[in-house]
Amino acid sequence: MTLQLSQPLTLPNGKVIKNRFFKGAMSEQLANEHAPSSALVNLYDRWAKGGAGVLVTGNVMIDRTALGGPKDVVIEDERDLAMLRQWAKVGTQNNTILLMQINHPGKQSPKDLAKQPVAPSAIGLTGSIGKFFNPPRALTETEIEQLIERFATTAVIAEKAGFSGVQIHSAHGYLISQFLSPLHNQRQDQWGGSLENRMRFLVEVYRQIRERTESEFIISVKLNSADFQRGGFSEEDSVKVVEKLVELGVDHIEISGGNYESPAMLEGVKASTLKREAYFLDYAEKVRNVCPIPLTITGGFRSTKAMEDALASGQVDLIGLAKPFAILPDLPNQIFENRYQTLNLKPVRTGVKKLDDVIGSTLEMAWYFYQMERLSQGLDANPAYSAWKLFFRILWQQGKNGFRKERA
Ligand SMILES: Cc1cc2nc3c(=O)[nH]c(=O)nc-3n(C[C@H](O)[C@H](O)[C@H](O)COP(=O)(O)O)c2cc1C
Repeated sequence: MTLQLSQPLTLPNGKVIKNRFFKGAMSEQLANEHAPSSALVNLYDRWAKGGAGVLVTGNVMIDRTALGGPKDVVIEDERDLAMLRQWAKVGTQNNTILLMQINHPGKQSPKDLAKQPVAPSAIGLTGSIGKFFNPPRALTETEIEQLIERFATTAVIAEKAGFSGVQIHSAHGYLISQFLSPLHNQRQDQWGGSLENRMRFLVEVYRQIRERTESEFIISVKLNSADFQRGGFSEEDSVKVVEKLVELGVDHIEISGGNYESPAMLEGVKASTLKREAYFLDYAEKVRNVCPIPLTITGGFRSTKAMEDALASGQVDLIGLAKPFAILPDLPNQIFENRYQTLNLKPVRTGVKKLDDVIGSTLEMAWYFYQMERLSQGLDANPAYSAWKLFFRILWQQGKNGFRKERA
């Protein structure tokens, strides 16, 4: 039987994706002083050989002074072009589409990395994670214009280096997502208030990139279905943003959800969607009517059946997977060759509730960084690695501060 997962897909700009596997962005934390490293080249070599149609890089930062993690790649000029070219070359081998995810963390920049982060409004993060972040200050309009310019500069460099395109990270509570949310963006100027104003930053980033790159350069947007916060970015808002992006000519949309205060992207949302594995299928059904362009949802897919069912429903065109790729870099080939055993990835927790409440999601991220590091060294992943071993490894390597920095 031919799997729908193996069928090619043509993007609006004519580029063909060889199959329906879409490796979602995972911050790798493998940069060398914020430059692309040979570890990253090795990792993408493995992923490109593993059979996915699309690989998205972990978020690459557009501004050296605004980091999401201590070992983020930053691209703000051409100083690392040679290494970027190597990265693009291995990532596009085997007829693979390679997108660089570009990002600015806004206020989601941990304390040790930002004394005073910037954000649309001077509103700090709340809840149990709030203490890991310094309160932000509001951006001036001039700074907003400069940041739009920076997004475009990074995209132009990605094109020059040979990446197939970029993905504008507008999800998970980072800067663009902060602009979109009425809870986090309380500006009174043209960048806040109505949805049209809140989406202006994203729209301008997209327009600038489109203007400065060739038409075959793919521009994708990763967007939240919702932030899952009362008074935040809602599904209704999200559908309208998708409508606008389609009208503007975006090539592809990936749907996720949540932010650091409400991490739906890692944990899923409700039982009904968990039944179908994928967290955001309900939303895909709603947005499909206004989204004729290729659509991916990412979060929760584990079994071939759930992936095939989602494609058969017509609600999505590509299957987004992130964590499974850190364990099985050749997951698509395993499925095509009928040797895949459904992964069961449990949350990475110590079992001590008080500890897990505070550092549970940090441990989870660090566990996947560890797996990707192994892959980059030519080793297999080690899914049996325990949360406790990891806990002591972080303590030993970085002291207590390790738990403050490693969030992505
Ligand atoms: C270690 C790690 C790093 C991540 N980094 C990013 C990132 O840089 N950009 C992004 O959009 N999502 C990031 N994510 C979220 C994933 O892209 C994805 O939305 C999430 O893991 C759910 O999909 P999954 O169930 O297939 O893993 C990250 C997830 C993990 C586990």
